[in-house]
Amino acid sequence: MSATNIILIGFMGSGKSSAGRILAKKTNKQFLDTDAMIESSEGISISEIFATKGEAYFREKEAETVVWLKTNCKNAVISTGGGMLVHCEALVDVGNIIYLHVPFKTIIERMSKDELEKRPLFKDPIAAEMMHKERDEIYERKSNHIIDASVDLETVVSKLVSLGL
Ligand code: S3P
Repeated sequence: MSATNIILIGFMGSGKSSAGRILAKKTNKQFLDTDAMIESSEGISISEIFATKGEAYFREKEAETVVWLKTNCKNAVISTGGGMLVHCEALVDVGNIIYLHVPFKTIIERMSKDELEKRPLFKDPIAAEMMHKERDEIYERKSNHIIDASVDLETVVSKLVSLGL
């Protein structure tokens, strides 16, 4: 299908799902969240998938999701898990890639304990900070647009709308 989808990428806790949901509503597009799709098809949460089946299994499910999106999805807003683009290059063929950039410090300040616990790759904050640094370069290189998402949600959504995609 054509590459008119809007794909939100960025580090864990950068607000992809919240911004994506509002953007889809405002622009009358379908909203999809890849983590939620995987949780629903597996019948368990992301942390349970990591704990019982391992990260490699989760990455396989992400790769299958990318293939599904490419075949079946058009003109939608799609929020992705923070590792999807890093592990599955083919995501760039699914639509316009928008990077929601948020500094690590801001992510940590914003995240509640509950949200931190939902994310297995956030267990070790030092490793998470290194991962943020490594991925920032990849996200920048692979995206079509970069949005400063360290501001409030309403402003992030306005910036996304003003891209006119
Ligand atoms: C991951 C990010 C998570 C989720 C999984 C792995 C990652 O999604 O897909 O825990 O590798 O960055 P969010 O970016 O929505 O937290």
